[in-house]
Amino acid sequence: MRFDILTLFPDMFSSPFRESIIGRAIEKGLIEVRTINIRDFALDKHRVVDDTPYGGGQGMVMKVEPIARAIEWVKSQNPSAWTVHLTPQGKPFNQELASSLSSRPHLILLCGRYEGVDERVRELFVDEEISIGDYVLTGGELAAMVLIDVVARLLPGVLGSDRSAAEDSFFNSLLEYPQYTRPLDFRGKCVPEVLLSGNHAAIALWRRKEALRRTLTRRPDLLARANLSEEDRRLMEEILQERETDKGGDGA
Ligand code: ADE
Repeated sequence: MRFDILTLFPDMFSSPFRESIIGRAIEKGLIEVRTINIRDFALDKHRVVDDTPYGGGQGMVMKVEPIARAIEWVKSQNPSAWTVHLTPQGKPFNQELASSLSSRPHLILLCGRYEGVDERVRELFVDEEISIGDYVLTGGELAAMVLIDVVARLLPGVLGSDRSAAEDSFFNSLLEYPQYTRPLDFRGKCVPEVLLSGNHAAIALWRRKEALRRTLTRRPDLLARANLSEEDRRLMEEILQERETDKGGDGA
């Protein structure tokens, strides 16, 4: 899969994509990440990429022509590349959206700066607008990094053969169960005994129950979308009963 990042700050991307899983995915040729400096597509000798807003007001607006020329340059290489604008006004990014993007062979990620981007960019060139959360970043660059990280790890081979994105939080609308490693006892906090039992069925059941408990406590909104089995419902009953008992105990 190919990612072409349109940005005024290509250097921001050099270190994050050299490291760890994404760095290895690039080395192995599983993904290609290219940064394209929008300034290289400016029309004038001063390479101006922004201007004051029509109608007045604070700040600068990114001009349409350099962005148009940069997108058209990429599209001349691959007309079917899918163009995403990272903006707080976009569709909220989540695992489902990441999964649908991961089936596209080529993404163009447009990173805005300043007070915004000329509206005609959206009208003429953008296929999809995406926000990574309800807050305002100084630009789309960090959002593009987040998007690439999340999408790339869904691609075959990126996580390695022994790991799978299928076990992730959100994959089946539940948060993940708690994990432990050595030591067995840290300052009196012990690893749950079932995890030492070697009983795989009991461990799987405990993990499912803890995933349900965690989701119920932290993100009850996710449960509404989760596909719960009969056994899950039984575990939920147990969790709710345990909560009642705990409440009674605390209050006594
Ligand atoms: N650019 C600025 N803030 C952003 C956000 N929350 N998501 C995506 N792009 C952005």
